[in-house]
Order: sequence, then C-alpha cells, then structure tokens
Amino acid sequence: MIKVAILGYGTVGSGVYEVIMNNRNSSEEAKRMEVKHILDLRDFPELPHSHLFTKDYQEIVNDPEVSVVAEVMGGLHPAYEYTKQALEAGKHVVTSNKELVATHGAELLQLAREKNINYMFEASVGGGIPIIRPLTSCLAANDIYEILGILNGTTNYILTQMISEGDSFEDALKKAQENGYAERNPDADILGYDACRKIAILASLACHKNVDCDLIHTQGITEITLEDVEFASRMGYVIKLLGCFKKLEDGIIVRVSPMMIPKDHPLAGVESVFNGIFVKGGAVGDLMFYGRGAGKLPTASAVVADMIDSARNIDRNKPLIWNKTEENFILDYKEDILAYYVRVKGNEAAKNAIVSLFGTVEIISKDETAAFMTCVGKDGDLTDAIAKLAGEGVEVLSAIRVLKED
Ligand code: HSE
Repeated sequence: MIKVAILGYGTVGSGVYEVIMNNRNSSEEAKRMEVKHILDLRDFPELPHSHLFTKDYQEIVNDPEVSVVAEVMGGLHPAYEYTKQALEAGKHVVTSNKELVATHGAELLQLAREKNINYMFEASVGGGIPIIRPLTSCLAANDIYEILGILNGTTNYILTQMISEGDSFEDALKKAQENGYAERNPDADILGYDACRKIAILASLACHKNVDCDLIHTQGITEITLEDVEFASRMGYVIKLLGCFKKLEDGIIVRVSPMMIPKDHPLAGVESVFNGIFVKGGAVGDLMFYGRGAGKLPTASAVVADMIDSARNIDRNKPLIWNKTEENFILDYKEDILAYYVRVKGNEAAKNAIVSLFGTVEIISKDETAAFMTCVGKDGDLTDAIAKLAGEGVEVLSAIRVLKED
C-alpha cells in the first residue's frame, strides 16, 4: 500500500479524500493508495473516517509508513514549515497552495531534489487544468516565449456577469460571493494578487528562474465599469483579467492587469469561473488550455494526480526546478508593446486634445463620455500621453490596456 496523509480538510482536502476513495480504478497506484492520516484542527465525528483525523502534525511527519503528503491547507504558515519538515523526513509533498509555491517554490524544489523525492504543484495554477506538467514535460522541447492566462475564476465570473448580464462590478461581486466563488474578503481575487501568484509560477517554470511576485506589476479589476465593458463590446473586444508573461531578448515582462482582447481571440470565449491559458512555444506554436480553475473535485483531480505521480516515482526526483537568481532579468512593464483604450468626459475640447496628442483616431461617444483606442506603442509612452491629456484639462475616466498580437 502507498500510505498518504492529507493536511487540511477544507473544500480541497475533502475533495482529495473523495477522489482517492472513488477513483480507485484510475490506476494501479490509485488502487494501492490508503489515506492514513488527515490533519485538521476541527473534529468531524459524523464522518465514517473520523478515526483518521489528528490535530498533531508530528504524528504524520514521524510516521515512517507515510510516503506522500498532500498539503491543501493554503496560506504560508504553517504550510511552509510543515512542507519543509515532510520533505526533510523524505516524504513526497504535493500541493494546491499557490501562495506557498510562488513564495518558496525554488527552495522547496531544491530541497526535494537534494532528498531525491518530489514537490509537485499541478493544482496550484488552473485548478483541474493540466498546465504545470505540460509546460515542464510535454513542452520541454520548446522555448516558451509567451503566456496569457485567465487565471482567476472569481474575477472572470464577475467580468462575465458584467458583459453578459449588464451587472455593475459591485452587483457581480455580490453574486460571486452568494454563489461561493468569492471569499467574504475578496481582495486577493479582485486586486489581482491570486493571478499574480499563478503567473509567477508559470513564468518561473517558463524561464527556469525564480520570478518574485513582488516584482510583478499587478492591477485588479476594481476600476472596471459597466461603461467600459459596453464601449469594449462596441469596439469588438471583451475585458479580461490577464496574467501575461513575455520573453524578450534581454529579459522578461510579467504583468497582471485587465486587458481588452478581441472577441475572436481564443481567450475571449473563456467565461464564468472557467480559466484559460494561452501558451506560445517555439516549436509547437499556439496552445490553449481550458477548464475549471477552482472547485473541490477539479482541484482534487490535480492534487491526486500528483500523489499518483509521486507514487510512481517513489525513489527518484523528477526534474522540475527553477533557480533563485540575483540577476535582474525582469524588465520594466512600461517597455511592453500594446495599445490603450481611453475613456474621457467628452466635449469638443476633449476631442481636439485627443487628436492633437494621439493623431486621427476613431472616437465613439455615449451620453457625456467618449472613448478611443490609441495606436500601438510602448506602455510607458502611452501612459505619458494619457497623462498629458489630463494635463490639458480633459477628465480621463479610464485607461485599459489592449492586447495587440504580432
Ligand atoms: N480564488 C481562486 C479563483 C481559487 O477564484 O480562481 C482558485 O485558485
């Protein structure tokens, strides 16, 4: 038997137990997997497997029979300490904890390598969507030079509600909370931090170097209005929160921000709580990964797959590594080439100022506001020009990046 432990019996932890118990026919390893301990501070006397629960982590880490630990508690502490202790004790660790992987991934991967075991985190990005393994194994022959991802289900649900139902941001957020998608404190989702951790993990894998979340320019969706969504639609675009990674000759650009994408882009059709990840590889060309980015069973599907993979590689470390580096390889996001959509309080003077600063652009109006799209240019140059517009007395109501494909 392969004896395993689950740390945390919340939504994902209970899903991991359920998937292990109900999918025994998926593989030989699944058949041989036995949950020996579940760590949680709460008691679950009503459960038939209540005898598996413990509040004492030492019972797990000191149990020589346990070879695989699923850390699904989330947060940095004590998940970090528990993961280190398990790896040091020679136990494989798998996780859905994107915060921990984004913050300490390089160190934990190194420790796993030294111990000849594995630290796996397929569930940390895209929930049930296979993306970590494809990037590191199936696409190993490729230089991954661009990733665009809808990586957060909550914000994608909110934006979809705004686009398809005409809900305001506030109403859509309320519905997301009522449906259990958004947390009571939704800041990590709506301010873009969750997507930031996920693009940091993908970028680190794509360039084999640690991409620090703190160096990623991150902007959420709190300033997106229904007016912007409507103007975007008239222009043939939808607004999505995108995690973007681009490899250039002298470094990489990584960013999280709302972006307008053309309605015919594959990511434009990724709606509601679904995630989509668009990858460009040197040999393979364009790829798109799509599926449920969150939720009990989709996330558990990826966690248990990692447990099975660990069991299959019980005596060896699968090469998966990114290194910490002092090298400054993250370029200023202002160097990126794109366009901007700008919405202003519209009158004749505003229109004249737009033409004098941005040349002849199509200006569309509704009620008291006018909107236009700039030509393609450097992010920094375009934001400078938008600031000049404000300097000329034009009230700039919003400015949103526009995806421009080569
Ligand atoms: N809060 C996250 C989301 C959960 O909405 O996508 C999955 O990481």
